[in-house]
Amino acid sequence: MKRIIILGATGSVGRTVLDVIAQHPDKYQVEALVAGRDVNGLVELARRFNPAFVALADTQSGSALREALSGTSIASGAGHDAVMDAAQRACDLVVAGIVGTAGLQPTFAAVRQGRTIALANKECLVSAGAAFMAGVRTYGAQILPLDSEHNALFQILEGHDRSAITQMILTASGGPFRAWSKEHIDQATPEQALAHPNWTMGPKITIDSASLMNKGLELIEAHHLFGVASDKLDVLVHPQSIVHGLVSFHDGALLAGMAAPDMRVPAAHCLSYPQRLDTGIAAPDLARLASLHFETADMERFPCLRLAMEAMRLKGVMPCVLNAANEVAVEAFLAGGYPFAGIARLVASVLEKAAAWSSDTDTIEACLEIDCESRRVARGILDREASFRAH
Ligand SMILES: NC(=O)c1ccc[n+]([C@@H]2O[C@H](COP(=O)([O-])OP(=O)(O)OC[C@H]3O[C@@H](n4cnc5c(N)ncnc54)[C@H](OP(=O)(O)O)[C@@H]3O)[C@@H](O)[C@H]2O)c1
Repeated sequence: MKRIIILGATGSVGRTVLDVIAQHPDKYQVEALVAGRDVNGLVELARRFNPAFVALADTQSGSALREALSGTSIASGAGHDAVMDAAQRACDLVVAGIVGTAGLQPTFAAVRQGRTIALANKECLVSAGAAFMAGVRTYGAQILPLDSEHNALFQILEGHDRSAITQMILTASGGPFRAWSKEHIDQATPEQALAHPNWTMGPKITIDSASLMNKGLELIEAHHLFGVASDKLDVLVHPQSIVHGLVSFHDGALLAGMAAPDMRVPAAHCLSYPQRLDTGIAAPDLARLASLHFETADMERFPCLRLAMEAMRLKGVMPCVLNAANEVAVEAFLAGGYPFAGIARLVASVLEKAAAWSSDTDTIEACLEIDCESRRVARGILDREASFRAH
């Protein structure tokens, strides 16, 4: 039995992993579950999977959680320390499925324990990639990419000479606005941006997919995960989401990683690695698909992708600033009243201010400070814009 800890259990990634676990109760045992504030969701999962410990980040819901689990053998806690305790428990695999930079400290706590980590939380690597990967090496942790593109790339690279890579390509579905005009995209509503054509995911990543910021974050994630130089990383729009990643080598070979657009495929790979788990999901039927479509990404209509690629090339504090400003902008957009076009505009403004910052990014703590300062600057801009509109 593999013992599994799930950070972000109530979210889209967490529930997908639990679905796969539920298919194979003889192979996996849930050790701990962590969520943000969804008490009812966490209690329902705890009753179903019977972990030893559950933790909620929200301190105010601690007593409701304890009460709901009284009479069971499941221990519980609430607040930052409880989340950190859950992340550090002994186990065979930690699933990092918390959304945003909120996932950085708990995931890094698991890194410090030298655990194997199924990493979905890309923001960890965007905010603190160098420090995070240095920790992975120092503490002997292992990262299994759970993001579908990186999971495909990980599988492609196994047994191959990384120094022979000429290009690494991540595909993007193009999201709901792939064929929209710039004017139309700029005025998109949250409902329109949340209607992803291929994937059902949490709200933040769904908005990032609509702006293509998600693909930019994923390029930075790939840069750190695979140690591939930023000028060898690129994006190809592929609306069918069958090919998830491609790698070309200097002998002229091009290898593709394909699977149905279903997160249970990478989840099963991470859970069973290096073995293969039967998910019941069929591999793509190429004869039935008949053709696969690819196109280049349009940086004019999707400026978030351009900003992310620039931040990746500039390195230093820039990826961390980009991520933090984007989290603030997406939150404002989802709350309503903030335009879709404002996301790229706000990120660009904060990046511009950060060009003069000279902070180091050698430690997780230093990156968290940059993250915090970027959010402060981003919120200041939002407040000024709001008061300008009010006058
Ligand atoms: N969804 C996908 O298919 C997919 C694919 C690839 C990569 N990813 C990445 O995986 C991560 C999660 O995405 P998602 O779509 O699963 O998001 P989601 O559905 O919004 O779920 C987020 C999870 O994080 C928890 N959470 C939020 N803030 C927290 C905090 N401060 N402390 C502890 N837990 C907290 C939430 O708990 P509550 O429910 O209590 O709020 C929830 O369990 C993101 O980084 C995303 O980019 C997702």
